Amino acid sequence: MAGILAQQLPEQALQFAYLVSGIMFIQGLRDMTHPRTATRGNLISSGGMFLAVAVTILWFEILTPAILAAGLLIGGVVGAYLAVAVETTEMPQLVGLFNGFGGGASAVVAGAELVDVLAGSGDLGVGLTASAAIAAIIGSVTFSGSFVASGKLHGIVGESPVSTNVGHALKVTFLGVALVAGAVLVVQPSLFGGVPTAEWVPVYWVIVAAALLLGVFLVVPIGGADMPVVISLLNSYSGLAAATTGFVLNNTVLIIAGTLVGAAGMILTIIMCESMNRSLANVFFGGLGGDDTAEEMEDIYEGQITETSPEEVTMLLETAERVVIVPGYGMAVAQAQHAVAELVDLLEDSGVDVEFGIHPVAGRMPGHMNALLAEADVPYDKMRELEEVNPTFSQTDLVIVTGANDVVNPRANEDDDSPIAGMPILNVEDARHVVVNKRSLSPGFSGIANPLFARDNTSMLFGDAKASMQSLVNEYKESNS
Ligand code: TAP
Repeated sequence: MAGILAQQLPEQALQFAYLVSGIMFIQGLRDMTHPRTATRGNLISSGGMFLAVAVTILWFEILTPAILAAGLLIGGVVGAYLAVAVETTEMPQLVGLFNGFGGGASAVVAGAELVDVLAGSGDLGVGLTASAAIAAIIGSVTFSGSFVASGKLHGIVGESPVSTNVGHALKVTFLGVALVAGAVLVVQPSLFGGVPTAEWVPVYWVIVAAALLLGVFLVVPIGGADMPVVISLLNSYSGLAAATTGFVLNNTVLIIAGTLVGAAGMILTIIMCESMNRSLANVFFGGLGGDDTAEEMEDIYEGQITETSPEEVTMLLETAERVVIVPGYGMAVAQAQHAVAELVDLLEDSGVDVEFGIHPVAGRMPGHMNALLAEADVPYDKMRELEEVNPTFSQTDLVIVTGANDVVNPRANEDDDSPIAGMPILNVEDARHVVVNKRSLSPGFSGIANPLFARDNTSMLFGDAKASMQSLVNEYKESNS
């Protein structure tokens, strides 16, 4: 049905608006590659999406105004609430849910278009049925897989990796059913003299059902620890599903946006795998997580741990000329970024050269540390990436590791059998002194002991990251007053 814009403007106006939206998505993504311009990038991309949605609604008159308003209101309120209420540490599962809804929407819209075409012209070309079948498979796998992944990260679904022959057989079966039903959907008009009928629509929903079950059985066996990588991959799938639905609807802007999401998600997945020195196959079928026993940890730590106090660390800070701070997941848990930023300000006021060493997979999501530190107004030029900061540790007087563990674990270089073998790490032990701040000697994400804690130039400042950083701020202020 023609909407208000279609009655007044030529078709080219719609395509032009879609082209502008596409350019805004690309410019937004480009801006998001640097923290300084990321906020602008977000706004430009959101503007592009608003333009695409508004033009589509006004051009096609898809729904009655009341239904449209209700949808916008409900979606807007839920989105705004989640944006404000969800903690930064819970962001990966929220992104997972968004991916799931994106995939589900693509599958439903492609199915609705099939029904619509059959009710109208009935002209089901191979291009349309093939795109719809692909959208149904990818979109449905993304929907159910993303919900399971979010549930695992949230602790609602069991997190341990499980691998059974029955599970593998079920995956193959559901994939087979989805592919066969997809093939039937594509070839059926030619099988029946080129006359498609509405009776074939249920075949589409068979594809959806099989792919939904496939998504569940693909993600359930993967350990909770690998969920950030899985979510990034599903993010890429949600983009691919949207792009194929774009082909079903013949909608250029959906094809552009979906392809961008698909490519960006895939690049991010590869970066995450490389930063952990793991292959995608290892994430899906290998499972991560060392299981160092208490005895093994005791062997590494016994008699080797030097405990320190905020007063002693302050004395080290008093004489230091260069300090590097290495944050990790614990800083996010403790929300210690503001106390850390305050300490940095104090040190800089005293003429100390301070920088941050940021590991690409520190925390639980890409850019986790950068986002937290930016929130605490730490200038971006203080955040050094692994390759930049590693050569500087040998000229550093003191490294303060706060809430990080795996990203500074030398076993990545020394122990070929460890789950983090080959993972690039921050070589903090090259510095003159290392202070590691965490609550105990518990392992990090990989579940293995860290020999850094037992090194001669390392001392442990036990305690919650926020409380410990605040104590350092107070001590430093006192000794400089
Ligand atoms: P982890 O190795 O997970 O270590 C975090 C440490 O923080 C823990 O050992 C914990 O020790 C400490 N901690 C927790 N709460 C704390 C608090 N309130 N105050 C102080 N310390 C606290 O973290 P990391 O070094 O950032 O490494 C990240 C890991 O996640 C890597 O193994 C990486 O491969 C993995 N991973 C990351 C990503 C992304 S994209 N970032 C994705 C998938 C996997 P205590 O309990 O003793 O305090």
